[in-house]
Order: sequence, then C-alpha cells, then structure tokens
Amino acid sequence: MRSDYFRSAALAAFLVSGTTLAQADSLTLYCAADEAWCQQIKTTFEEKTGITVDMTRKSSGETYAQLRAEAGNPKGDVWWGGTGDPHLQAAEEGLTEEYVSPNRGELHDWAIKQAEAAGNKTVGVYSGALGFGYNKDLLAKNNLPEPKCWADLTKPEYKGQIQMANPNSSGTAYTMLATMVQLMGEDKGFDYLKALHANINQYTKSGSAPIKAAGLGETTIGIVFMHDAVTQTAAGFPIVTVAPCEGTGYEIGSMSLIKGARNPEAARQFYDWALTADMQGKAKDVKSFQLPSNKSAAVSDLTPDLSTIKLIDYDFKKYGSSDERKRLLSKWDTEVSTLPQ
Ligand code: G6P
Repeated sequence: MRSDYFRSAALAAFLVSGTTLAQADSLTLYCAADEAWCQQIKTTFEEKTGITVDMTRKSSGETYAQLRAEAGNPKGDVWWGGTGDPHLQAAEEGLTEEYVSPNRGELHDWAIKQAEAAGNKTVGVYSGALGFGYNKDLLAKNNLPEPKCWADLTKPEYKGQIQMANPNSSGTAYTMLATMVQLMGEDKGFDYLKALHANINQYTKSGSAPIKAAGLGETTIGIVFMHDAVTQTAAGFPIVTVAPCEGTGYEIGSMSLIKGARNPEAARQFYDWALTADMQGKAKDVKSFQLPSNKSAAVSDLTPDLSTIKLIDYDFKKYGSSDERKRLLSKWDTEVSTLPQ
C-alpha cells in the first residue's frame, strides 16, 4: 500500500517535471517573412538549442490581429519578421514586451532607431525597398511597354495586368499605401491608389504572392519589395526588378517579444540569436535578399543596394502609430477597395 503510494507520488512528480521540462524546451514563433526563411530559422534554432519551435507563418497585419485577439491569453512567444509598422502599433497598444538584447550594439543605426521609437518593444532585423517586378516574357507577349515609374502602373494598357496584396493583411501593401501618401501627399496618393485599382486583377493576402504569381505567368506585374522580385529571378523565373523612378518607401522588418509569453526565457534566447551576424547571414541560402540589421552579417551580391535607390524619408513613427494605421486602412477600405474595376 505504502510502496504503491510512493510509486504513484514519484510518477506524479516525474510527470510534473516532465511537463515543466517540455514547456521550457519549446517556443511558439509567429513568423511574418517568407515561408522558406521561416522554416530555415525554425530548424536552425532547434538544432542549435534543442528547443522545439512551433512556427506559424502569417502576414504582418494578420499576425498583429492575432496578437490582439490573443491578448487576454497569449499563445505566441516571439513575433519575428514582417514589416515594422504593425510591430510599432503592437508596441503602442501594449501587446509586446520591452527588451534590450546584449547583441543590440552590433546593429545598424536604423534598426536601433526602430527600437527606440517603440520604447524598446521591437527592433529592426532587416530592411528592404518597395518596388515592383514584371514577367518579361508576358510583357513582350502582350506588347506592353516596360514600366519604370509608379505613374506608369495607372496607364490603361496595364488594365488587369497588375497584382498587389491587401494592405489590411499585408505589411508590404501597407508600406505601398503609406509610401504613396508620403510621396504624393494624402489626396494625390489616394487618387493614385484609386486609379491603380482599375488595373489590379487581384488583392492577395500575402505581400510576396503577386511576384510569385508573375513568376508563374499568372499576372504580368507584381507590386512587392524589390528583394522578393530578386528571389524569383534567382529561382529561374523571367522576372525583372524595378526601382520606381519617382522614389520609393522601404520597410524595417522587425522582431518583438510577445507580452505574457509562456516561454519568456526561450523567447529571449531566440531574440538574442536572431540579432547575430551568423543567423542573419544565412538568409541568402534560402534566397531571402533583405539587408541584414547586423553590421557584420554576410550580404548577398543579389541584395538590392539601398544606397543606389531613391528612398523617401519614411516616417515610421507616424505610419506605425495605431491611429494613423487604422485611419489609412479604413480609408482604403471605403474609398479604394469598393470602387468598380
Ligand atoms: C516578404 C518580404 C519581407 C516582408 C514580408 C511582409 O516576406 O520578403 O521582407 O517583411 O513579405 O509580408 P506581408 O505578407 O505582411 O506583406
């Protein structure tokens, strides 16, 4: 009887410690960059630490919405990647945690500025400029001129030839919306988006989907980050990357620790690792050609050189603020997306 009691008590203790161990050795990662890079990050971190990573890939706006929905009972530990604006919004709304990594000194100023703009509740992990890409075979087949500028994309000859993502789900498309407002002023920016709407064949959920579709010949032009167009060319598709002649916006891809995370230690371990030159330098092996935020990380020759692209002075603090993001998205919903095509 007694020995039975001790045996079951020991078994219970084993089970409890087993459970505790399993929790300490796992991490729930919300990943908002490209699937191939997210997979590489998951497996590399698992091999390096023995921590099991439960990774989900979703677009930036969708991940933000998930954090909000789960705020009362957070399920994720780290949000890695995706455009910086919704990370800034999440920081402002208290959905993410303040943290200064010991590795932060290794980063470019733009990545640290992003952290400082959010009271250290986020940090820059990569950067890349917005632009577009086109399928040169389809362009020739349809007898279309080579688009070089944002203005070209509203010309009637491109009707039904252009794809972009929906700015509610996609950080890429929100960057496009905020870029037009900053480049042209709000009224002209919205006039531009309305004119462009007439030429759009589909608003996708994910930001890079339009250029993947162009690679497969399903659309001629895709509005995306330039590095996403380069990925398709590197994969062998007939895609040409364009830096729009008027100038363009850019992203600071970011990372944040989720408030109320179940595995805070593993989350910080991941965060510190994700800022290292070694981790960031591996992106090019899966054809992700963003500019890394760690100054010493290896950069691919194929990474678009931001110093040669006309970049606007993107106001991340303003366009990542909760009020401005909500206002612009609802204006786009009511004034642009509902127009006939
Ligand atoms: C692609 C790009 C990333 C960007 C992300 C945003 O994966 O390579 O640089 O941060 O799109 O994704 P989303 O689906 O939110 O536009």
